[in-house]
Amino acid sequence: MTDTLFSYIERLHGGAEWGTLLDAGTGQKSLDWITSLDTRSWTAVTGEAAVAERLTTEFEKQIRPRDRIVSGNWTDPALLYGDRFDVVLADYLLGAIAGFAPYFQDRLFTRLRPLVGSSLYAIGLAPYPQNAENPWAEVLLEIVRLRDACILLGGRRPYREYPADWVLRSLEGSGFVVEEVEKFPIRYGTRFVQEQLNAAGSVLPRLADRALAQQLEYAIAELRDRALSCHAAMGSQPFGEDWIVLARPKIQHDHAYIQGDT
Ligand SMILES: C[S@@+](CC[C@H](N)C(=O)[O-])C[C@H]1O[C@@H](n2cnc3c(N)ncnc32)[C@H](O)[C@@H]1O
Repeated sequence: MTDTLFSYIERLHGGAEWGTLLDAGTGQKSLDWITSLDTRSWTAVTGEAAVAERLTTEFEKQIRPRDRIVSGNWTDPALLYGDRFDVVLADYLLGAIAGFAPYFQDRLFTRLRPLVGSSLYAIGLAPYPQNAENPWAEVLLEIVRLRDACILLGGRRPYREYPADWVLRSLEGSGFVVEEVEKFPIRYGTRFVQEQLNAAGSVLPRLADRALAQQLEYAIAELRDRALSCHAAMGSQPFGEDWIVLARPKIQHDHAYIQGDT
């Protein structure tokens, strides 16, 4: 089943050709979608060599000779230097930059600009609201706060998400014209609870303070029980939103001087 966000991009794209496509922050979900499209070729970039290796094995059957999975960092000017793609997808890339190239977020779209031939589709998660509107939202906020606290204590950087307004400003200052913006409310279910709390637990072995690690493990277990009970009682309510932006390269018009015309 195609994800709602990718279906929306397919609708925006209409009957246009996909041509050559760059997945600028790849992963299992976006690659799954990209390999279902009628592209001439695709290139998928990840910041982690281990992810590149895993995806190469997972997608062995779908990778054609002209497709490639590349491991590199967008801070490296040599990464895909001189290449150009009809379509560039930046799916959940902006938020992940904090983990791979801290403080590079404001340069991301400028860095991608020369690679975009026709369309840039950017997808991201808006920062979560500060306050919860219902018990399910309350428990989800507790989960993401505990997850990020554990990641910080484990010596890593949690992802940092940006609102659509910030993204529009950044795109417009990076040589793009924004054509479409859409927001999609999210309904997290129990898989989110399990995945996020597992992510929180996975960094605990890195903590030197074992007593603190033990307390956090209890907190994770208690929150998991509470979240699952809350979900069983009231089901999923909307919490947070994703944004999708379609931007195109701004055409640079040189100032024309008409000589002799006074
Ligand atoms: C959250 S994942 C993207 C999810 C993916 N699109 C999916 O559908 O599963 C973020 C991706 O962006 C990559 N990434 C983040 N910062 C990067 C950077 N500075 N340079 C290159 N890749 C980066 C990560 O390595 C990862 O592959």
